[in-house]
Amino acid sequence: MGKVKKIILAIDTSCDDTSVAVVQGTQVLANIVASQAIIHQQYGGVFPTLAKQAHQENIEACVNLALKRAGLIKNKKINYQKLSALAVTIGPGLAPALEVGIQHAKKLAKLWNLPIITVNHIEAHALSPLLVPKNNDQRRKINFPVLAIVISGGHSEFILIEDIGQYQRLGWTVDDSAGECLDKIGRMIDLGYPAGPILEKLAKQGNAERWQLPLAMTAVSNFNLSFSGLKTAAGQLVNQLNKNQELNAQAVCDLAACVQKQVFAQINYKLEKILLSSNLAEKKYPNAQFCKKIKKGVIKAPVTKINEVWLGGGVSANIALRSSIRKTLKNYQKLSGKKIKLYLPYHKKFCADNAAMIGLSAGFLIDRKKSSNPQSLDRQPNLKINDFCQAC
Ligand code: KG4
Ligand code: ZN
Repeated sequence: MGKVKKIILAIDTSCDDTSVAVVQGTQVLANIVASQAIIHQQYGGVFPTLAKQAHQENIEACVNLALKRAGLIKNKKINYQKLSALAVTIGPGLAPALEVGIQHAKKLAKLWNLPIITVNHIEAHALSPLLVPKNNDQRRKINFPVLAIVISGGHSEFILIEDIGQYQRLGWTVDDSAGECLDKIGRMIDLGYPAGPILEKLAKQGNAERWQLPLAMTAVSNFNLSFSGLKTAAGQLVNQLNKNQELNAQAVCDLAACVQKQVFAQINYKLEKILLSSNLAEKKYPNAQFCKKIKKGVIKAPVTKINEVWLGGGVSANIALRSSIRKTLKNYQKLSGKKIKLYLPYHKKFCADNAAMIGLSAGFLIDRKKSSNPQSLDRQPNLKINDFCQAC
């Protein structure tokens, strides 16, 4: 019989969603998300002080609802003795927003005498494809190394996972993230916040070939991304269309299709380069001549050590992004003979910010992280995936 997994109550207040979950290993027993989208809509982005205020107003109710859904409240009594630990996001994220979750975790830790496991929000997005529904205790065997692609409102990163806890950042955005770029372009045409899912719907009725927007980072020999040039080019196009009074409903759909196409083209361009790298540990970038010969069939593509690709983060809910990545993996299979499967969170709600992924990550950490004084924990707004926080 397998070891009984510990039950963890997890909190995420890193950005604009107040989320509390109860997990057992990789199983989601409850996941509550209080969205603040309506509050931030009029600003076209997240307003940190308003986010903090809404987290403070919602957190207690979210904790109670998560405990109730997980069956840990009976006759109005909280059965906190069933919990082994609390988990909370300490970064990266908005400092005032992170603060609320950390303070609440400290309060509960004192009240229930529980340890706190601190979690990195990007690591949690990267591991989110491992979540499974309640009562599904069939753990899939992971075939490491894995390439995790985290594409969200705050981050766009390629992470090589040699094992849980062993991460190497292969590439990241040098300016805006992909989700941020979509949201900012949406704001230019008054689509509301977050604009990513709205652009996805509009793009289905648009002509992606109407305008050629720039494909960035193709001249640099690394796996990094950049989306601010695309944002500027889209802004100039919007201004021109406005000036000529041509920004009609069809133009908005065409713009959505053109923008989405280039955001995803860049991610796939760099994914292909990662797969064609002959030495990922040294982040060796395949040169243009080498790639040309592979594509012409003159030489075979090197067999990458990557065995699985995991996609997470808010933008990973996008069907066009998912299909484009599957296509890149299929093309790579033709060139190298190696089949690589794409894994996604089992439900779209686990692409966006959620505390279940925080609890999942904490479950991996619980046995190997030395305990610390919960009351000394502090937020780390700029935390990177392979940073070791002093508080841990
Ligand atoms: O992971 P997430 O909820 O928060 C961060 O950690 O940033 O990601 C939010 C981002 C927003 O930029 C939003 O526009 C984008 O994910 N997003 C989408 C879709 N759903 C959410 N972008 C494109 N297509 C979607 N369907
Ligand atoms: Zn996130």
